[in-house]
Amino acid sequence: MAISSRLDTTRVLSTVLLPTLAKGVIVRRPAVMSLAEKLQSDASAVETMRGLRDRYGPEPVRLRVTGRSIAVLVDPTDVGRLLAESPDPFALATKEKKAALRHFQPHGVLISEGAERERLREVNERALRPGNVPVEDIVRDEADLLTRHVRSTGELTWDSFAQAWWRIVRRIVLGDGARGDDQLTDDLKALRGDANWAFLHPRRRELRERFERRLGEHLARAEEGSLAAQPGDLATQIPHWLFAFDAAGIVTMRALAIGGRGTHGMLESARLWPTTPVILRESRTATRWHGAWLPEDTLFVVFTPFFHRDPDRLPYADRYAPEIWDRPLDPAIVPFSGGPGVCPGRDLVLATGAAMLDVLGEHLELPALDAPLPATLNHFALRMQATPAGTRVS
Ligand code: HEM
Repeated sequence: MAISSRLDTTRVLSTVLLPTLAKGVIVRRPAVMSLAEKLQSDASAVETMRGLRDRYGPEPVRLRVTGRSIAVLVDPTDVGRLLAESPDPFALATKEKKAALRHFQPHGVLISEGAERERLREVNERALRPGNVPVEDIVRDEADLLTRHVRSTGELTWDSFAQAWWRIVRRIVLGDGARGDDQLTDDLKALRGDANWAFLHPRRRELRERFERRLGEHLARAEEGSLAAQPGDLATQIPHWLFAFDAAGIVTMRALAIGGRGTHGMLESARLWPTTPVILRESRTATRWHGAWLPEDTLFVVFTPFFHRDPDRLPYADRYAPEIWDRPLDPAIVPFSGGPGVCPGRDLVLATGAAMLDVLGEHLELPALDAPLPATLNHFALRMQATPAGTRVS
């Protein structure tokens, strides 16, 4: 088994894991995102990972840290296996995730195990089918309003996009009655801010209670045409859904910035700038890799930006390449994870984002970034000059 040198361990911690934590695993921090973009921190992280593979070969690389067995994967086939063999022996519910998520989704599927996990997974899969909600109609309403706003100001900014996006999300999840409830999603954001400091922050009870009360009021309406009308134990799952829709908005905005269209535009945006850059698993037994054993309770780390943009393997690493989604895919290109733990919201996200790309694309001409695309893209700072579609003079 490859054991990294002290220097390589330091490199992985300082260029891969710490910058990811600093950007905010749970909620992105604008100031750090801006710095990360200036430094193109994902480019250094990918370099570190290439270095590991060059020096230690394809086996998982164990970091020299005390108190935790940590293995970093560098081989795409190993990523496929880790995800396929989840949740047993490779559990999604790692200690780190439990600590981060207990603030606002103590009963979330991600940190559940055993029979409870199976039950919650089923609730999620059933409730999140895109056909359950008239996604296109909702998106069209709000995107039309956004288009009007953009036409009057001449540019699309993250702030205006996010406002429209959260209205869409609240309507999809809780119904039209929640459309204007900014307080609800703002409170969740504050709770998520605490979750960034997983091990450090005391839980904020009052804020959580206010959030849960408001959420309960919306859920009680069980509005037809929203996810809230679906059967099952939704109150405990919805905080995760709302929080995960933040990532979906970021992916959609970045897809707009590369001229993406349809579901392939969304998938490419999520490949190029994964919003879940670190996928973690914890082994419940000892497991064998490339002929060597790793102990039970090892934390496995998949750093997806490396696998998604590895210039040694992928000729399309740094360009918009929607065509790759039409053919069998590399097992380590996993913006929505893979195997039994694959994101159950994937199809709903793709339907929502693709509808947004299509409606905005119908009405506005937005400039697209050119290849090679940056390793780190700060969505907060994106500003796109817009002209009504069809009026651009070439
Ligand atoms: C662009 C947007 C999104 C991306 C890239 C994304 C990606 C992911 C990834 C990578 C995982 C797996 C994490 C792991 O393997 O440990 C995951 C899990 C999950 N996602 Fe998403 N997600 C997105 C949006 C959503 C949305 C909007 C919802 C709900 C409405 C959702 C619901 C879930 C749930 C419930 C899980 C936990 C699954 C489980 O534990 O079995 N996701 N997502």
